[in-house]
Amino acid sequence: MANHSAPARILCIAGARPNFMKVAPVLAALRRRNGLAPILVHTGQHYDPQMSGQFFKELGLPAPDVNLEVGSGNHATQTAEIMARFDPVLERTAPACVLVVGDVNSTLACALVAAKRGVPLAHVEAGLRSYDRTMPEEINRLVVDQLADLLFTSEAGALINLQREGIPTERVHFVGNVMVDTLLANAERAIPVAHTLAASGVEPARAVPFLEAGRLLLVTLHRPSNVDDPSTLQGLVAGLCDLARLRPMLFILHPRSRARLEQAGLGEQLEAAGCVLLPPQGYLAMLGLQRHASLVLTDSGGIQEETTALGIPCFTLRTTTERPVTVEEGTNQLVPPEPDAIRTAFGTFLKNGGKGAKRRPALWDGMAAERIATVLDHRFAGARCPSTDVSSSKGTPGP
Ligand code: UD1
Repeated sequence: MANHSAPARILCIAGARPNFMKVAPVLAALRRRNGLAPILVHTGQHYDPQMSGQFFKELGLPAPDVNLEVGSGNHATQTAEIMARFDPVLERTAPACVLVVGDVNSTLACALVAAKRGVPLAHVEAGLRSYDRTMPEEINRLVVDQLADLLFTSEAGALINLQREGIPTERVHFVGNVMVDTLLANAERAIPVAHTLAASGVEPARAVPFLEAGRLLLVTLHRPSNVDDPSTLQGLVAGLCDLARLRPMLFILHPRSRARLEQAGLGEQLEAAGCVLLPPQGYLAMLGLQRHASLVLTDSGGIQEETTALGIPCFTLRTTTERPVTVEEGTNQLVPPEPDAIRTAFGTFLKNGGKGAKRRPALWDGMAAERIATVLDHRFAGARCPSTDVSSSKGTPGP
């Protein structure tokens, strides 16, 4: 018989940078439900203040109830270490449900542990497919969706992908996009570009061209397929250098990309072409930079969605996307990561000003997390959860 006095514990997992903006609105929505008690577990996959800590502060995330402090490693050791450290937490906290977001190694590791322990698993951002199994994230997505009991999708096409893989339709809930919940909630707090440049030590005189309306090119790259292969990286840098000679360009460096550019001596080439390299930025600074950009060039998953929601043209420097709605309805355009393709696409952009959005995709309305909370409330509120001390490894978001 259900114990109606004890709220059902929902273990919410966050591990890497793109998880924090997805879990923030879900956690807030769950906290508003009397029948549910969310518990935040940080795996520590990302641990720098720049990659983790500042997002907790900016997004109002509470300090994690548990921090597994797993740190870096190759995919196998990282995934295995998260599993080994998460398993006893799951046993101790005995939740009604484990909720994972996105497609990072932390998502996969915690999903596997939950499924093997027979704990219901909810996956936020289910059903996205690039159909490119060389991407580590695609493997993570495929496995997590097979294991999940509740699949929350962000775009309509995801259901078709899941049906193709034999996942029963009744498990799938089209709720919209939690990234857009966070974006809409924080739009007014975006940090002006001038502040971001000053905070990164760019001299006021040097900053002027970046502040002019309709000029800024904003670059982020970090996919292993783009930055780990020296010849692909060289081609990308050659293409970007050509653009940087024509328009002010800011390149926000992920730690992986900084390391690869340094190894190959390519950072200097970009700087010689006029590109300014900046360290990883916080959520509100990135929002300010994207809003001010005339064009964003990226291989990120989330930025494809954010640019579509903001109506800013985006070149995704990949041959596939797991987020086709951003191409079909939004401002996104796939541009192969090759110098000629980048030059040609940019030539067209200069002539026509870039791709406008047809519409904001369905349910990208700021209410996705509320829809998720409603489904979880319906399913789990009143579930029996034995009393337990969840805070015995109270964590901090990072250094
Ligand atoms: C991970 C995700 C990717 C996501 C990206 C966003 C997987 C498979 N990939 O890739 O989907 O888009 O995060 O950032 O989970 N590092 C730091 N400081 C940190 C974190 C990482 O310096 O706080 C370094 C690591 O030491 C490592 C590199 O960055 O050398 C990559 O980190 P890793 O967690 O392996 O994957 P990401 O490339 O960040």
